[in-house]
Amino acid sequence: MDYFHYIDGHLHAEQTPLREIAARVGTPCYVYSRATLERHWRAFDDALGNHPHRICYSVKANGNLAVLEVLARLGSGFDIVSGGELRRVIAAGTEAADKTIFSGVGKQRWEIREALEAGIRCFNIESEGELRRISDIAGQQGRVAAISVRLNPDVDANTHPYISTGLRENKFGLAAERALAVYRHAQSDPNIRISGVACHIGSQLTDLAPYKDALRRVLEFVDRLEASGIEIEHIDFGGGLGVRYCAETPPSPAEYGAAILEQVRARKKILPVVIEPGRAIAANAGVLLTRVVCLKRGDGGGADGGGADFCVVDAGMNDLIRPALYQAHQEIVEVEQQPSAPERLYDVVGPVCESSDFLGKARRLKVHEAQPGPESEASLLAVRTAGAYGAVMSSNYNARPRPAEVMVDGGEFHLVRKRESLDALYRDESVLPD
Ligand code: LLP
Repeated sequence: MDYFHYIDGHLHAEQTPLREIAARVGTPCYVYSRATLERHWRAFDDALGNHPHRICYSVKANGNLAVLEVLARLGSGFDIVSGGELRRVIAAGTEAADKTIFSGVGKQRWEIREALEAGIRCFNIESEGELRRISDIAGQQGRVAAISVRLNPDVDANTHPYISTGLRENKFGLAAERALAVYRHAQSDPNIRISGVACHIGSQLTDLAPYKDALRRVLEFVDRLEASGIEIEHIDFGGGLGVRYCAETPPSPAEYGAAILEQVRARKKILPVVIEPGRAIAANAGVLLTRVVCLKRGDGGGADGGGADFCVVDAGMNDLIRPALYQAHQEIVEVEQQPSAPERLYDVVGPVCESSDFLGKARRLKVHEAQPGPESEASLLAVRTAGAYGAVMSSNYNARPRPAEVMVDGGEFHLVRKRESLDALYRDESVLPD
């Protein structure tokens, strides 16, 4: 459930018309709904009920400071994968370093150093060498680092291959035998404190079966650890719950939570649970607002001949890369409904010089261009479900400034990231000396 809805034919975020945001901030522009973010976070929190748990929102999905701060106010912890994400969590004033978990296969020394200095809750370790590096740096700092080892349970998450992470051939985590050896080393290392076991099998999961399977394997692994005298304080089950982009029917956070608790509660000892949802909190809390630049008849036969016409908009693959990178389908809707206008079939494309630059293919839309009038007369479109892996994956390709970001809060909206300036595109560059 989200708070993007039509009032008198105008698409609103909460009580704020998107048309007004476009007029004031310009396009392309990401628009987030605070109430939706909060609702989704609470759905996970409620799903785990009174079982000891922590929701560590995955910053990679959307690391805008305003998003982090809104979630921190609810009590959220964070899952980070870089020193840059740690800086974001701190810069947002969340005071949540001690609820922050550091995941990722390639943590560098400076990142480990900063994370230890900030007092993060736990490192999720992915290799033998990483344990040595963390121990070494913790020793130099006179600190003890809390760790989990990320188990690779060899489970097929049935998702896009680029976002599947729990198979043996993926670079993530360690198979049980090797993970056990890392725990044994950790056990005798005075710079390390064993905290948990971690696992994340993939993203955009729409079925509970692989989760249940992975959890069973993680808990069997915890049994093995306990049999070797290694006590675990929590399990971190990662993120990955899918959302509805189009026709998917993912489990609800409540169903997902119940599936976790069913197995965890069957154990003799209380085992606190950490989860790291990103997409399921942020995706449907955001849209990408874009305006039609021009309409162009396709030579592939046109709408009636099977091919589509082109609706060229001012957002491109540099602003939202998911359709190009994963062939992801995201709904595209008119911001202002015009029931009597003619509908045509369009490929919605951006201005970037690549044929992969599309936001949606074969979409039925009622749109018009502005020519010869002012640009503001052209139709506005909203690409739905763009709050996660949207702005964070944007780039400057084709020397295009990254879009503005806005957070709606009821009937008000706030600019939470200014549109990047053209100067900023080359501010840090220089030409060779004479
Ligand atoms: N924890 C770990 C260790 C992860 O690797 C990820 C995502 C998450 C949590 C959060 O997963 P979520 O709940 O958001 O599914 N750019 C891709 C998604 C990449 C996900 C990478 N890891 C996309 O746009 O579909």
